[in-house]
Amino acid sequence: MSSLAAALREVVGKDHVLTDPDMKSGYEIDWLRQYIDDTPCVVRPHTAEEVAGVLRACAAAGVGVVPQGGNTGLVGGSTPRDGAVVLSMQRFTELGDVDVRSMQVTAGAGVTIEQLQLHARAAGLDFAVDWGARTTATVGGAVNTNAGGSRVVRFGTMRAQVMGLQAVLADGSIITQLGGLPKETAGPSLVQLLVGSEGTLAVVTAVRLRLVPWYQHTAAALVACDSLMHAVGLLPALRRLPNLDAVEVLLPEALKIACKHLGVTPPLDPASAGAFVMIDCAAHRDPTDELAELLSSYTGVLAVGAQRDQLYAIRDHVTIAIGALGKPLKLDVAVPVLHLDRLVRAVRAGLRELAPRAQLVVFGHLAEGNLHVNVLGAGDAEGALKELVLTTAIELGGTISAEHGIGVAKAEWLERLKGPAHVAALRAIKGALDPGGLLNPGVLLPVE
Ligand code: MLT
Ligand code: ZN
Repeated sequence: MSSLAAALREVVGKDHVLTDPDMKSGYEIDWLRQYIDDTPCVVRPHTAEEVAGVLRACAAAGVGVVPQGGNTGLVGGSTPRDGAVVLSMQRFTELGDVDVRSMQVTAGAGVTIEQLQLHARAAGLDFAVDWGARTTATVGGAVNTNAGGSRVVRFGTMRAQVMGLQAVLADGSIITQLGGLPKETAGPSLVQLLVGSEGTLAVVTAVRLRLVPWYQHTAAALVACDSLMHAVGLLPALRRLPNLDAVEVLLPEALKIACKHLGVTPPLDPASAGAFVMIDCAAHRDPTDELAELLSSYTGVLAVGAQRDQLYAIRDHVTIAIGALGKPLKLDVAVPVLHLDRLVRAVRAGLRELAPRAQLVVFGHLAEGNLHVNVLGAGDAEGALKELVLTTAIELGGTISAEHGIGVAKAEWLERLKGPAHVAALRAIKGALDPGGLLNPGVLLPVE
């Protein structure tokens, strides 16, 4: 390793190759302390050319490379394993001028989602993708996982925001497609191939992003529903709202623990309902009346427009509240909304049988049928529960990853979801772009 570290110092300078255990430790663990392993060194390049130099040096040394952004991923995709070097993207913080004519901006891979949002808002626009980890999660990580969050119902996932990017391939060659042309039919899109590739095909260094209008008038509501089925039943009416921005769901335990963690009284009694739907509307004019009118026939509605910040604080803190209670089995599944209730009933039945004392915390993004299933205290039953949840999601026509990625957590499952032909095609692409298996080994596709 000392010769690789020396080669890396030649590329990025001595201050940006970390080998000291104390300096490295923050890069060797994810934010929920679920994935921890040693890396021989952390390298922090500043340009695409330096990334190319790092990849060439690591390839020559036969050492794998784990690209890392804000490290807020939840599937072990950005923490080191098997002696790989961590390639931190945190110095890629450049933000270009907002182009209000095309409603686009170019952001370095290490720019946080919140920095991007604030930058866009300073020009009267906004960035569409948003979720709780916005202060730490980065543009590069969001592209690599095709992140979703709460506003997908209106603007789509990260994929829909990416107009172009710059990336370094495993052999050190650099692809630059930052023109942001809304229309181009010049063969398959390498740009879109890299979205959701979890750092296994290239290292994304900069991204050209679509911006959206900045809707400064908002109105939120929390609706207590008898059941998840009842919650799903709200969707047709909600979708008629012209300014619908988010439809999130919290099952009672999620509402309870997030409020407890924040030290606030729950806005509605968690015991009073089977599911709570959080609705957000955003517009250029106050959307309170239209949301209030729509919900006027429903009982169990927290006053529309009131306490929006408190509602978002609660929603954004569910993950942290779970993490504070222990190390959960954490799954991110989606099924057609029609089957959400069946999914949760199957999980509850499995839990009763396999780990009756475990704590189940379920929340997520109702409009996309995307639930975050968290189980605390499952002990030895974790494996069986994971099998149950993922199998059920697949059987119901859903997916084992709606927005967190596959990472190492679900690499063994990809073939069960996608089938052998699909995985063989992915392996062929990986083999063509990264024949040495340099980039993020073990992520997405299991090491053969
Ligand atoms: C969220 O929706 O808050 C995130 O996906 C985080 C999580 O699932 O814990
Ligand atoms: Zn989520």
